[in-house]
Amino acid sequence: MKIDGSVALVTGANRGLGRVYARELVSRGAAKVYGAARDPAAVTEPGVIPIALDITDPERVAQVAAQCTDVSLLVNNAGVLKYSTFTGAPNLDAARMEMETNYFGTLSMCRAFAPVLAGNGGGAIVNMLSVTSFYTNPFDASYGASKAAAWSLTNGVRLELHHQGTLVVAVHASFIDTDMAALTNAPKDTPESVAQQVFDAVEAGQIEVLADERTRTVKAELSHDHELIYPPVQEFWDAAVRGTP
Ligand SMILES: NC(=O)c1ccc[n+]([C@@H]2O[C@H](COP(=O)([O-])OP(=O)(O)OC[C@H]3O[C@@H](n4cnc5c(N)ncnc54)[C@H](OP(=O)(O)O)[C@@H]3O)[C@@H](O)[C@H]2O)c1
Repeated sequence: MKIDGSVALVTGANRGLGRVYARELVSRGAAKVYGAARDPAAVTEPGVIPIALDITDPERVAQVAAQCTDVSLLVNNAGVLKYSTFTGAPNLDAARMEMETNYFGTLSMCRAFAPVLAGNGGGAIVNMLSVTSFYTNPFDASYGASKAAAWSLTNGVRLELHHQGTLVVAVHASFIDTDMAALTNAPKDTPESVAQQVFDAVEAGQIEVLADERTRTVKAELSHDHELIYPPVQEFWDAAVRGTP
């Protein structure tokens, strides 16, 4: 689909990647860009219309879908990362919050906007996933589970909405230079690079974006994950547990 003239809604548009997604949409000529955020006053990108939205509130999600009936491009960007292990976390709070936001929040948005997109000729959904959709890393284990669930939902929604002509794009990325990745010194992609790749893919009708070399390598190695992906992760984790990383 063409971005020029489209009407887009970006979740988590107040900061990080969501803010850059909204900016890129404006610069590509979107007719209208709704910037959804828990605090709409924090949506300050020029040309972006603030909308109050917590994606974990299904009633509010339904209200926004009823209000923004002109949307043809939905960008499910909002997400949380709590850096929580499966067995070492003190309780299930982080795992529940990640699943509630990254999986159930994204699912609510897809369900609410599917008929809106159908009414506007099919349009497109972009779901912001992760390289950790593909494998588990103990450092962000429960986050990975939520992104694996969101990957599964992305594939399912694509199948379910094919008949109405909706393009469903899965975006997988390793570290991106935002608040979410502030704790790590690992190499990071820029949010601008990710946004450009994503909207190039939307315009080209591509269903998947593998935004960086690490993500492309992991996806290519999936059929040999226990030989190629997990051994170095295990080695790194064991060293961290021993206190000798
Ligand atoms: N940064 C990375 O390394 C990286 C890598 C791969 C994938 N991703 C994914 O990229 C997306 C954007 O992340 P980011 O890097 O921009 O992270 P970020 O800087 O932490 O921003 C996260 C955004 O999501 C919003 N959000 C969180 N929970 C929400 C909720 N319940 N309802 C509405 N908005 C909510 C936040 O709003 P508040 O300001 O209100 O908290 C914020 O706008 C996420 O889905 C993330 O998982 C990030």
